[in-house]
Amino acid sequence: QKKGIIFDLDGVIVDTAKYHFLAWKNLAESLDINFNKKQNEQLKGVSRIESLKKILTWGKKRISEKRFNELLHQKNEEYLVSVQKMDESEILPGVMKRLKMLKDVGHPIALGSASKNAKTILERVNLMPYFDVIVDGNEVSKAKPNPEVFLKAAQLLGVEPENAIVFEDALAGIEAANRAKMLSVGIGEKSILKDADFVFADFTEITDKHFNAILNASKA
Ligand code: G6P
Ligand code: MG
Repeated sequence: QKKGIIFDLDGVIVDTAKYHFLAWKNLAESLDINFNKKQNEQLKGVSRIESLKKILTWGKKRISEKRFNELLHQKNEEYLVSVQKMDESEILPGVMKRLKMLKDVGHPIALGSASKNAKTILERVNLMPYFDVIVDGNEVSKAKPNPEVFLKAAQLLGVEPENAIVFEDALAGIEAANRAKMLSVGIGEKSILKDADFVFADFTEITDKHFNAILNASKA
């Protein structure tokens, strides 16, 4: 049986993490809240609503539900300005090569993202044809580290969790993959993604040998 491959989007396929960070940072500043890079790690992979809740908690701010929804909207509008400017050049180095290879060999491929903008982004960078399945923030209610998004993706791919491999840049995403009992591959810093089964700084670091090892590995 062929392994099912599940990719996170933001920070794995495209570097939208920097656009999310910018938009949240500006929003937080307008509320007199400051947050640092380390706190930003906790926003990666986490839904829009949960992200805003965290920022308000850090700033010890309480706001009305109406204001909360306005801020969610405001953040997304700013984020979408960046997204609309995206094109293929924003696909992270080494990603294309692996997507092509997986397609050629016939592995089913899914997107497992918390983002409600996932389809817009895949269209902007012309990657829609590579994905057999897309599970995004419009289909799941439980934010990572809850494994819902990945379990749903594996189910739609028709593979058992033990035959699924997840590529993730977020702490919350690695935890979600591990809870789903899927092989977790971290893309980013080893010190942050220490619970992943494999960690690489980026896709260019994954050699053919590494990639084959990942495809043949099973969860400890
Ligand atoms: C991804 C990102 C998060 C973002 C979330 C929701 O998981 O890593 O930083 O908050 O998606 O994205 P959205 O596009 O729906 O605001
Ligand atoms: Mg991510």
